[in-house]
Amino acid sequence: MNNLSSYALITGGSSGIGYQFARELAKKKYNLIIVSNEDLKNQEVCLTLSQEFHIQAIPFFIDLTGPESAEILFNFCIEQQLDVDILINNAGMFFFKEIPDTSPEMVSKILMLHIVTSTLLSTYFSNYMRKKKSGHILFISSITAWMSYPGISLYGATKGYLRQFARSLRYEMKDYHVNISVVCPSAIDTNLYNLSKKQRSIALRTGVMMCPQALAKKSLSAMFKKRFLYIPGFLAKVSVCFVLFVPPFVIQRIKRYMWKKLKINGNH
Ligand SMILES: NC(=O)c1ccc[n+]([C@@H]2O[C@H](COP(=O)([O-])OP(=O)(O)OC[C@H]3O[C@@H](n4cnc5c(N)ncnc54)[C@H](OP(=O)(O)O)[C@@H]3O)[C@@H](O)[C@H]2O)c1
Repeated sequence: MNNLSSYALITGGSSGIGYQFARELAKKKYNLIIVSNEDLKNQEVCLTLSQEFHIQAIPFFIDLTGPESAEILFNFCIEQQLDVDILINNAGMFFFKEIPDTSPEMVSKILMLHIVTSTLLSTYFSNYMRKKKSGHILFISSITAWMSYPGISLYGATKGYLRQFARSLRYEMKDYHVNISVVCPSAIDTNLYNLSKKQRSIALRTGVMMCPQALAKKSLSAMFKKRFLYIPGFLAKVSVCFVLFVPPFVIQRIKRYMWKKLKINGNH
């Protein structure tokens, strides 16, 4: 396969799952535009990938919670004549907090990062891809897309938005040969949850967590086969079926138990 003139743009591609997407696509000879808000780390990552795989890897430093970040990024690609064939909306953040205890800044940040910027990037690039009648847009959602659970209200709801948005965008793009896919992973071994090394290694060994390399490889394979939804792993598939049928009183009980364990105060 020769993808030497095509670019894959990966948001949050300098670490975690995004980095593994970058590596897998570099192996397939895609050039890369890696977006990150950590400039030095991203420059190093791009240098390493371009030397290892003999591709072009362009670091792009921006905070994707900024209201104009999608427009700035898209304009950069157009001005530099970078033919983006794959857009991976991967950048994300996670925190576990009840809504009344969450600062308005954190609320805005997660909404901007997961919803506004991903939607705007998809708007710009779906228009671009529709004109050339090719391309893929991949959304990294989560199994929490089905979980209206306390403590992850914003995370789950924004991931649910991405899954639903991707579904309708897929119908709109179908006749233009632009593929839209969405991946809904369960727990993946990255820094997202700030777990200790020991916790991560136990979770990996017991199969509760999946390694990000395997996730990236399988997700790309699903995307190239133009599948809409990919839920990686048996546990994740079972969890999705399970959460759809958990009655509200059980969720409330689990919540009280967890809050007690975590010593979270509040008037419940
Ligand atoms: N890990 C899991 O268990 C899991 C499960 C389901 C879904 N996901 C989703 O998978 C995606 C990747 O997460 P991960 O596990 O790989 O976590 P991660 O290692 O923390 O990576 C998150 C990425 O998002 C980028 N990012 C965060 N805020 C940003 C901002 N304001 N501007 C630009 N980039 C920003 C980070 O870039 P910097 O490195 O530059 O900060 C980082 O590369 C997320 O959307 C997450 O919700 C993860």
